[in-house]
Amino acid sequence: MNKKIYLASPHMSDEEYELKFVKYAFETNWLSTVGENINEFESSVKKYLNIKNAVALASGTSGIHLGLKGLGVEKDDIVFVSDLTFSASVNPIIYQNATPVFIDSEYETWNMSPEALERAFEKYPNPKAVVVVHLYGRATNMEKITQICKKHNVPILEDAAEALGTIYKGKFLGTYGKCAALSFNGNKIITTTGGGMLVSDDEEIINKAKFWSTQSKDPARYYQHSQIGYNYRMSNVLAGIGRGQMMVLEERISKKREIFDIYKKAFEKIDDIEVTIEKEDERSNRWLSVIALKEKSKVKPLDIIEALENENIESRLVWKPMHLQPVFKKYDFIKHDDSKIAVGEDLFNRGVCLPSDTKMTQEDMQRIINIILKLFK
Ligand SMILES: Cc1ncc(COP(=O)(O)O)c(C=O)c1O
Repeated sequence: MNKKIYLASPHMSDEEYELKFVKYAFETNWLSTVGENINEFESSVKKYLNIKNAVALASGTSGIHLGLKGLGVEKDDIVFVSDLTFSASVNPIIYQNATPVFIDSEYETWNMSPEALERAFEKYPNPKAVVVVHLYGRATNMEKITQICKKHNVPILEDAAEALGTIYKGKFLGTYGKCAALSFNGNKIITTTGGGMLVSDDEEIINKAKFWSTQSKDPARYYQHSQIGYNYRMSNVLAGIGRGQMMVLEERISKKREIFDIYKKAFEKIDDIEVTIEKEDERSNRWLSVIALKEKSKVKPLDIIEALENENIESRLVWKPMHLQPVFKKYDFIKHDDSKIAVGEDLFNRGVCLPSDTKMTQEDMQRIINIILKLFK
């Protein structure tokens, strides 16, 4: 059997920083949801992003959930959300009994289309919040999106689960909105095996999230609850992994960017392959290297995926848009323009996420590239 290559797998530091901090949690017996690892992990993310407040949580999804609650999203509120994303961007809207309206992508960034967002505001003038997803580590057109939301006085929650470390116009993604959720799931640019964080400059949002995430215990000598709570806080053991992973985040980003550059160069001469180009003033974390095949291409996404699979190599289709998901079919969807096909659907039909594991060697990459190039011969 050929060596297995993963799409994106956990990658601990060579120096074993993570183990050191996990061991420290054991040695000090702080094995619950309080302790130095949590405090230090939150501090290192705050310092890195240059943001004032953070709360480490059990997942990125819980970060989105508590972020929405912090923005006051309640039953029957309308929430605009990127259409081309993972269902975790949308599920928390439903947890709050609110109503999602899906906003199409634009071709340039694959992320939320400012045109579609404008039209969504014409149809639904008073949404409670806008969930903006930065897909595959690419920056959304935040200048325009922020401008539109400001005009309508509606807060943005950034779903930066895939985008930790991406810089756009001198600012990290996750610092543009009123609050942002990060994910440390096993396949993300850094991982705590599972985990997430809600970050914000607004202290009140983060304090509330901390309160809700630990079962909403009122300040009393007995257990008293005036609000529904959640068991969403991160464990101090896992925060130790996060603390160590933060020390190699920039290294991981450099490697992800190198992986993308190697693919870009390898496919330069294949007219049927489009790579996504960074915007001016963008430093993407290139969490996943993604390509789109031109419509005329005889090679289709599944041909690439199956050819790689036969060689024990993992790759994926692009996220299937939310408006095409059976579970969300009753919700409204606002298209980018009047074209027959929505942008997100078109990208879903033509896109492939290539192996982007930071542990790949030059030889591994050459293997992948050769398999793909062979299909185009
Ligand atoms: C865009 C997006 N949003 C949200 C999530 C949810 O994060 P988590 O798995 O940590 O709950 C993920 C990844 O899993 C994601 O890719």
